Amino acid sequence: MPKKINIAIVGFGNIGSFFYKTLEKNKKSIALKTGKDIFIKYISAKQLNKKRIIKIPKPKWIKNPLELTTKNDVDIIVELIGGSDGMAKKLIFAALKNKKHVITANKSLMSKHGDMLALLAERNNVNLEYEASVAGGVPVIRLIKEGLISNKIKKIYGILNGTTNFILSSMEETGKSFVEILDYAKKLGFAESNPISDLNGSDAAAKIKILSSLAFNKKISEKKILTEGIQHLNQEDIDHAKNLGYKIKLLAVSETINGKLMERVHPCLVDKNSYIANINSVLNAIIVDGYPIGRTVLQGEGAGPGATSSALISDLCSILRGNIKYPFGVSHAMRKTTKSFNILKRYCSSYLRVEVKDQHGVLSSITKIFAKNKISIKNLIQIPDKKKKKASIIIITHKTLELHYNKLIKNLNKNKFLIKKPTFIRIEKV
Ligand SMILES: NC(=O)c1ccc[n+]([C@@H]2O[C@H](COP(=O)([O-])OP(=O)(O)OC[C@H]3O[C@@H](n4cnc5c(N)ncnc54)[C@H](OP(=O)(O)O)[C@@H]3O)[C@@H](O)[C@H]2O)c1
Repeated sequence: MPKKINIAIVGFGNIGSFFYKTLEKNKKSIALKTGKDIFIKYISAKQLNKKRIIKIPKPKWIKNPLELTTKNDVDIIVELIGGSDGMAKKLIFAALKNKKHVITANKSLMSKHGDMLALLAERNNVNLEYEASVAGGVPVIRLIKEGLISNKIKKIYGILNGTTNFILSSMEETGKSFVEILDYAKKLGFAESNPISDLNGSDAAAKIKILSSLAFNKKISEKKILTEGIQHLNQEDIDHAKNLGYKIKLLAVSETINGKLMERVHPCLVDKNSYIANINSVLNAIIVDGYPIGRTVLQGEGAGPGATSSALISDLCSILRGNIKYPFGVSHAMRKTTKSFNILKRYCSSYLRVEVKDQHGVLSSITKIFAKNKISIKNLIQIPDKKKKKASIIIITHKTLELHYNKLIKNLNKNKFLIKKPTFIRIEKV
């Protein structure tokens, strides 16, 4: 590799423009640490005439980013467009085919096309780096690929979405509603104007798929994994959880059970004194449980231009230091397709909130439905609301098969005494 390295940045939005500034500021220290001088040769974005805070010399601007993939004076392409398909996909495929190193922060693209991209990078003897795609500035990908290389990982779990963590922890701290806190998060820039992929869990699902692929040397799961978001939770659930000694967190979990893989994203009740329960605001936290090391914990800023640029520069330095690395730690041929564990066979305790009409005999009907579905109740609290002629029934169950919960909820939904669908949250031992 020549001493002077030319970089092209495609996507000059929130992340791209901050990355550019950070890179310019850090050139000297990068040269000191890697022995390579970097030069930002080209920039590309969608609208060339858009007013931008950072002034870029005209010759650096490239209208069609795909041209960069065949230019001799480009060594590394940094994709900061976003989206699982479209230009981001075309650009990375073309760049790798043309033997350019690629850095991306794009989790949706990596979780969908990561296997093919890794194969392409391997065949063309270039690097594909994606540290910023999971947990922003928290270096979890490098931790799994390098720091924990000698370990057999059993489980990896954590908070991988800052927006939902901000919403849940703010609801708990302030007592305000989901809608009020979501609006506030948008004002602070912690939630996008359309935050659906954060709220419904799909953002965290894309990230845990990438992590579990790395942790278990397997291809990225193509099937949809169990993915539930936080939109259905309300202040009542947060309060009840608190009174029962829990906090609610949206966790992403990946583990192997009898050689099969279980990946899931859903809200969980976790012990209020546990480490993960006390990760608040927009922070991310990840726990990697491996052998022989035991548990390793990482915590930090999961998003934002500063944190993301930190991860992007770490990727850049990894490329500059040399050596071509397998993007997922092992060669494509060695990455297995692992069978999924049937989630219906999983046992867990759970929290259920059932809103019912305040009528005689409703409570005994509910307990009968639980018994019929082989679910034993550990704790039951009835909170009547005489004015509204309704009652909330909060139930904590003993460990039960997921299959039985599915049947229970179907059974409960059939009853006329029910005011709305029950809220079901799994209890996670962390
Ligand atoms: N924001 C975060 O905190 C964060 C954290 C971790 C990872 N990421 C990832 O970083 C990436 C960028 O996110 P962002 O927040 O910077 O997004 P953004 O602010 O929306 O910026 C996107 C950039 O891509 C450009 N673009 C869009 N379509 C294009 C096309 N067809 N050709 C060339 N350029 C195109 C846009 O051009 P114009 O400027 O002309 O509109 C804009 O500069 C995404 O993959 C995201 O998931 C973001």
